[in-house]
Amino acid sequence: MMDEKMQEALNKQLNAEIYSAYLYLSMSAYFESVNLSGFANWMRVQWQEELAHGLKFYDYVNERGGRVVLQAVEKPPSEWDSPLAVFEHVYEHEQKVTVLINKLVDLAVKARDHATNNFLQWFVSEQVEEEASADEVVQKLKLVGDDPSGLFMIDQELGQRVFVAPAATAEGGTE
Ligand code: FEO
Repeated sequence: MMDEKMQEALNKQLNAEIYSAYLYLSMSAYFESVNLSGFANWMRVQWQEELAHGLKFYDYVNERGGRVVLQAVEKPPSEWDSPLAVFEHVYEHEQKVTVLINKLVDLAVKARDHATNNFLQWFVSEQVEEEASADEVVQKLKLVGDDPSGLFMIDQELGQRVFVAPAATAEGGTE
């Protein structure tokens, strides 16, 4: 059984992951509206990843005999000035998520909740990847600048991304 404060914090992170999913789906819709289908695909895969992150929190709280309580999901923005502005937003957002995960780890350590700390380590590694992949696209977009053929090439590349569901663990959760 987890302590009340930890349960509340994990429920809050579940909401934050679902907001991330919603934000990326909104970005996908923006890219669809400007006919950049590869960028839209990348964001759609990211939406699926965030839903999977949210479910990991959902499953974990249940596994620990806690209670999942869903809250309202904030409305995401729907317009950006350019593909670069979108990916700068992604990078900035993921940096904020990293801070949230680190705070959860601090809380688990303080509560001597080793199981939750162990669970959260997957997210600590995941955030390194999340920040790196967003920054990689930011750097590419900066490199091509206003060159339409460069943008087309990045669109082609991002169109290749496919969603890979996290593998199941022995406990029946996701890893
Ligand atoms: Fe759920 Fe993008 O981290």
